[in-house]
Amino acid sequence: MKKLFLTCAAIVVACAAMAAECVIIPRPASYEPQKGKCALSSKTVVYAADKSLVRPATIFCKYVAEEKGLQLNVAEGVAPSNGAIVLSIDKNLTPEGYTLDITKGGVVIKGGSEQGVFYGLQSLRQVVFHSKGGKKVKVECMKVEDKPHFAYRGGMLDVCRHIFSVEEVKKYIDILAMHKMNRFHWHLTEDQGWRIEIKKYPNLTKVGSMRKETLVGLHTKKNNNYDGKPYGGFFTQEQVRDIVRYAAERYIEVIPEIDMPGHMVAALASYPELGCTKGPYEVRTRWGISKDVLCVGRESTFEFIEGVLDEVAALFPSKFIHIGGDECPKHRWKVCPECQQRMKEEGLKDEHELQSYFMKRVEKYLSEKHGRSIIGWDEILEGGVSKTATVMAWRGAQRGILAAKLGNQVIMTPRHYCYLDYCQTSDHDGNNEPICAAGNGKKYQLPLRKAYSLDPYNELNEEQRKVIVGVQGNMWTEYVATFDHVQHMILPRTAALAEVGWSYGNQNYDDFARRMHLLRKLYDKCGFKYAPYFFNGIE
Ligand code: ACM
Ligand code: ZN
Repeated sequence: MKKLFLTCAAIVVACAAMAAECVIIPRPASYEPQKGKCALSSKTVVYAADKSLVRPATIFCKYVAEEKGLQLNVAEGVAPSNGAIVLSIDKNLTPEGYTLDITKGGVVIKGGSEQGVFYGLQSLRQVVFHSKGGKKVKVECMKVEDKPHFAYRGGMLDVCRHIFSVEEVKKYIDILAMHKMNRFHWHLTEDQGWRIEIKKYPNLTKVGSMRKETLVGLHTKKNNNYDGKPYGGFFTQEQVRDIVRYAAERYIEVIPEIDMPGHMVAALASYPELGCTKGPYEVRTRWGISKDVLCVGRESTFEFIEGVLDEVAALFPSKFIHIGGDECPKHRWKVCPECQQRMKEEGLKDEHELQSYFMKRVEKYLSEKHGRSIIGWDEILEGGVSKTATVMAWRGAQRGILAAKLGNQVIMTPRHYCYLDYCQTSDHDGNNEPICAAGNGKKYQLPLRKAYSLDPYNELNEEQRKVIVGVQGNMWTEYVATFDHVQHMILPRTAALAEVGWSYGNQNYDDFARRMHLLRKLYDKCGFKYAPYFFNGIE
């Protein structure tokens, strides 16, 4: 009996090994390999049952043509015969969910919405890429049922410390889309540069988008080595609209961040009356935090912010507008008569409450005037936060836990798991990593495995978990001046965070690592300049 059991067990293991293993990142909720193969050729037609599915079908065909050399055709309507790729919407599925059925007779993708279909096509894209054949591709049969765990799966790009072209920003969006991420958090304003055209305030780009030079090397107290070269640039409103449209076609919502009341030196340099001391100010040339922030005592500061946000709201249809709130020193407010007067009038007990007053007032404006909600970095918890603000926890998961306990919605982006400017190996000097945010010796290390280990629910009970809306990877660019370098930092760690966001509860690092070696080949095909450390086994 025992021997028979062992024999059966051995057969089961052998069959499992023979069956095609899942190749998809992020890992689908359910994957069942089936017998047989489905042949795709240049005669294969992708049928979009609904007009709205023609665009995702066309984007998919472009991927397959570029990555596999196979030109598929798109048609609107119902498939007349076998051997097609058939796309339709099934309202019984969750909006981002999809099913992917590959049989000998063809491929059927159903999505809860256009977006769900798009994600089914992203899975099929990976499956096709890894299949044998070129002009005629033999795809293993399979049944996939899939949906994301978290509703918010984001990537942030800081275009202020260094700026990137419209084409590069679109490539960043392509990378997010490949990983089924659905939010692009665009960090557009900073001490070191204002990057979005605001027609009412032309100096923001005339003055605020240029810094006279840039620090060379790591930001330390002692480092005073500058490159002597003016640096700057900005996105016109037309370019912004183009990027927002491009992202929407890939089911990614662009969330602009106008960081306030700190990180505003570029705006202060443009309009010095916005600061407590009234300047003069210059666009910051080194990294770190400035003591100069917006004056919250003056009404004119609010008029300025409202004028900026009116144009931002017109450009970005997103539900959320990110209004920053991070790293705002209180030195100037403590000695500014107008800020102190405001505190007295409003009965605010300290400068943290003054910041809270500011954030709440801006939130109210965006809500009442534009019907938008705000996201703020976790500093908005200090001095009191409104119930309706979404908190982006960055200084540690504990800040997210605190916000969750208050009942606020939370996006988890704790820096030791999600800051993609951090070094990727434990021995970054020995491995000759490019300069990365590890100013204090070997403190900031974020290897792929660590990013994968993020648990957004850690320490939270069932009730508190409900307000965790998702996760995000953040690409700060103090030390990242080129888009090749951006890719080196975000890949493959974005894949790990994407799998946390999509596949939470169904994760396995060893299996992820196996699939990551496959996805690397697609990265190669796409020309993505990912980091080699994980693939070379030097984490
Ligand atoms: C941040 O890293 N200052 C949000
Ligand atoms: Zn002031």
